[in-house]
Amino acid sequence: MTANQRRILVTNALPYANGPIHIGHMLGYIQADIWVRFQRLQGNECHFVCADDAHGTPIMLKAQQLGITPEAMIDDMNAAHQRDFADFGVSFDNYHSTHSPENRELATLIYTRLRDNGYIHTRTIEQLFDPEREMFLPDRFVKGDCPKCGATEQYGDNCDVCGATYSPTDLKNPRSAVSGAVPELRESEHYFFDLPAFEGMLKEWTRSGSLQSEMANKLNEWFEQGLQQWDISRDKPYFGFEIPDAPGKYFYVWLDAPIGYMSSFKHYCAQRDDLEFEDFWQEDSTAEVYHFIGKDIIYFHSLFWPAMLKGAQFRQPTNVWAHGFITVNGTKMSKSKGTFIMARTYLDHLDPEYLRYYFAAKLTSRIDDLDLNLTDFAQRVNADLVGKVVNIASRCAGFISKKFSGKLSPRIAEPEMLASFQAAASELKKAYEEREFSKAMREIMKLADRANEYIAVKEPWQLAKEEGKENEVHDVCSMGIHLFRILMIYLTPVVPKLSDDAQTFLNDRFHWDSVQTTLTDHPIEKFKALMQRVPTEKIDAMLESSKSQNTAAAVSNGANDTPMETTQNIEPIADEIEFSDFAKIDLRVARIVNAEPVEGADKLLKLTLDIGSETRQVFAGIKSAYQPEALIGQLTVMVANLKPRKMRFGLSEGMVLAAGPGGKEIYILNPHDGAQPGQRVM
Ligand code: MSP
Ligand code: ZN
Repeated sequence: MTANQRRILVTNALPYANGPIHIGHMLGYIQADIWVRFQRLQGNECHFVCADDAHGTPIMLKAQQLGITPEAMIDDMNAAHQRDFADFGVSFDNYHSTHSPENRELATLIYTRLRDNGYIHTRTIEQLFDPEREMFLPDRFVKGDCPKCGATEQYGDNCDVCGATYSPTDLKNPRSAVSGAVPELRESEHYFFDLPAFEGMLKEWTRSGSLQSEMANKLNEWFEQGLQQWDISRDKPYFGFEIPDAPGKYFYVWLDAPIGYMSSFKHYCAQRDDLEFEDFWQEDSTAEVYHFIGKDIIYFHSLFWPAMLKGAQFRQPTNVWAHGFITVNGTKMSKSKGTFIMARTYLDHLDPEYLRYYFAAKLTSRIDDLDLNLTDFAQRVNADLVGKVVNIASRCAGFISKKFSGKLSPRIAEPEMLASFQAAASELKKAYEEREFSKAMREIMKLADRANEYIAVKEPWQLAKEEGKENEVHDVCSMGIHLFRILMIYLTPVVPKLSDDAQTFLNDRFHWDSVQTTLTDHPIEKFKALMQRVPTEKIDAMLESSKSQNTAAAVSNGANDTPMETTQNIEPIADEIEFSDFAKIDLRVARIVNAEPVEGADKLLKLTLDIGSETRQVFAGIKSAYQPEALIGQLTVMVANLKPRKMRFGLSEGMVLAAGPGGKEIYILNPHDGAQPGQRVM
């Protein structure tokens, strides 16, 4: 360790082991990785650890569903997660699991200390119990009718239709989502962590001014509402760690999940002679510890976690940094739109560095949501990385290898320009350090514009044709390469692979301070294309493939059994499409020759549609708005070439077009008089 070197430990939230990584997840991992790579490039000691979050009811049930042990499932998932992260260039030093000996040991230690320090209390509570599966049901595993609006098929915590929140015991006609059985109320003794005892310390932390302002505001709201005792136990059957002094009781997954940060680090230390776990975690540690997390888990990380650490005599995090959520093309990732994109699906089609750059170009230190607009994504990457940065090298490199046997000029053509590129280092360093990546990217691209302007003005390709201008050509092209090199040093945390290739091309190894040196009279390699433009057809292919992975979940064909959207908000206009895209959709005028209710489905009507050449059967979710009799004989418009969808009640062979938020407000489309069944709508 050198004198000014910081000692830093970074973590990102641990992904659940019951599903694959998707591009929404990737935002946090990429953000954290850029910050980590920046610290390492600075020469700081920066460790980056993660793990799978392997415990809890959903994981237990998912494994049961798959007919395998939870251990087998989480092992497979762990391997798949690690592959995804590695392929996105996420440079973890260690990737572990919360279902590990280290985590059991630390969870037990922390719990025991909390208990011995008087922060654990027990209390008997009443909870819904599935008598068939003999298990207590978490809120999300109870379904029934909303106590407020009566909507069916609502979860035990809140209603999707009217937004009411309630407790699962308030549901009418409750059912276990696991077995369908009618749940019973049962008593059980639970263990609680005394969060309110830490209010003083948490308030002090909030007032320290180091937290993101949005996070501090959230904390203040929670203080106003009053901190509650936190239920940290679950009854068997549960997949997790048994509480040491309480047979049949398990730690709630969120108790041992953040301890996974420590245990992954501990597991890592065991593999290295030069690292001590205590140096980073003991109460008086001077090392820095940062947790990158998504905005949905702030409560756990800013309240429970620091309090647990404090109560168990460990150090608290230096900071917790939350980021917003990813939307794709302006809306929540959607299975039916194909925008619920798995990390692997992305990797099958596109270069991971495109996404790393795009996220960097949009990330700030705030908790705002971030839209991945796929059109903008392609344009941005093409314009910036390919069109600006890589272009500089490709315009200059050919001359160097052909005319000057691959050696850069001994002279610096534009010392002032070079100096100003070097001087940007301090501002960029600050931007990276403060997680203002979009600001850093903007500054870097401004420099890239200047470099391109310089080359455009000097026109080395013209000079090359002129007699006696060899030196000038050499100097201008070398200057271009120097500028390219500086830009690539600055971009190294964001696009490590591109940076690696650039280092190979330049015969150089980058550190942050490398910008202050210049490769005069230096041999470089033959230039190879460093990055391709984003192949837009690959984006389409990626969406298609995401869609087909999700056919089971696709809901657009006919009606579905779930409530329609109830928001009154105007949906943003979708991405521009080609006429040929539109022409793929075969819309036909249809006559509703019959309409009838469907037994067992309270939202559906079964429609028989005459489209000239044939009749179709379509299940439409319009019962809340229409009497079936009123529809018979009417004309409407249907999508006639939609893949048929098998429903519980039969095959749905298309869908009718309708607008409106749902409920009574559903309006099916009606063509003007004169239109005939079977006519195509264009
Ligand atoms: N297992 C918990 C975290 C435990 S940390 C001790 C968890 N897992 S998760 O798989 O649901 O999420 C992992 C991370 O991805 C979290 O930081 C979460 O906020 C983030 N994201 C999940 N979906 C996301 C988006 N759509 N967009 C951005 N981040 C998202 O929570
Ligand atoms: Zn409701």
